[in-house]
Amino acid sequence: MTDNFILADWISDSQTRIEHALSVCLPDSNKPSSHTSKRLAEAMRYSTLNGGKRLRALLVYATGEALGAELTHLDSPACAVELIHAYSLVHDDMPIMDNDDLRRGQPTCHKAYDEATALLVGDSLQTLAFETLCDNPINPIHQSLMVKTLAQQSGVFGMAGGQAIDLESVGKTLNIDDLQSMHELKTGALIRASVKLGALTAANINDDILTKLDNYAYCIGLAFQVQDDVLDVIADTDTLGKTQGADIALNKPTYPALLGLETAQQRAIDLIDKALTELDNLPYNTQTLAALAQFVVKRKN
Ligand code: IPE
Ligand code: IPE
Ligand code: MG
Ligand code: MG
Ligand code: MG
Repeated sequence: MTDNFILADWISDSQTRIEHALSVCLPDSNKPSSHTSKRLAEAMRYSTLNGGKRLRALLVYATGEALGAELTHLDSPACAVELIHAYSLVHDDMPIMDNDDLRRGQPTCHKAYDEATALLVGDSLQTLAFETLCDNPINPIHQSLMVKTLAQQSGVFGMAGGQAIDLESVGKTLNIDDLQSMHELKTGALIRASVKLGALTAANINDDILTKLDNYAYCIGLAFQVQDDVLDVIADTDTLGKTQGADIALNKPTYPALLGLETAQQRAIDLIDKALTELDNLPYNTQTLAALAQFVVKRKN
């Protein structure tokens, strides 16, 4: 059996696990006892259970498993990062942001429902993420650190801050440092949170381990958005499940736009090499984390 085959099995099992866990934590719009808007509950399910790659959940599982965390304790942080991510995509696609019609191969939330519902879906997925994160029988000190980490990496100094810089930068030529900072925040921050949440679920961790894991996560998080920019240029809409060329159409500052396609692709590969070197410094079996790093640049969507 090759390493690739083992990884494919692990990814498939973990994806099945996160789909089930998400389905359980999302509101069930068909339950007669649900005193809420059926439309909002339905739209939350529509925007989450629509076939994402689940990389952020996979990072929670892979990190936690490498450090010996209980698998059942990893479901809650895995759901939390995917719920924040799903919320960020719903808002990112709205007409006031990227104005996209297609997400994961289906009409975006505001197209399938309406803009007010999409706004509320984002709000509700975000709060559900924190509720879910608190619903975990682990060490309360680690749990409060996990809540703080997810809040910080999602907010003004994380994803939301990066999204604001993205919007403020439309039509401008950013220098490479500013472009990198924007990518670190809008996408890298939640990927770093995923690895940290996986680590904090384990019992015996220390600052040195957290720092080394964070160095790995920093590199793959930045590489992930560089590759996202590259795919916007080289992939097709069917494969992407989102509209190809959207960045160019909106005049977004991206790595290919600033550095050229080949230099951008090389930058992503270099970051992954650096991530793999960071893993070599950890006293654990980091085979799955290494394979997920490779996946970041090998993926087609
Ligand atoms: C897309 O993320 C948005 C970015 C942050 C680049 P993904 O490519 O992880 O989207 P899904 O979850 O697989 O659809
Ligand atoms: C989005 O970046 C990052 C988020 C925080 C959602 P993009 O705008 O490039 O993501 P896609 O290409 O629409 O998925
Ligand atoms: Mg965007
Ligand atoms: Mg977008
Ligand atoms: Mg993009």
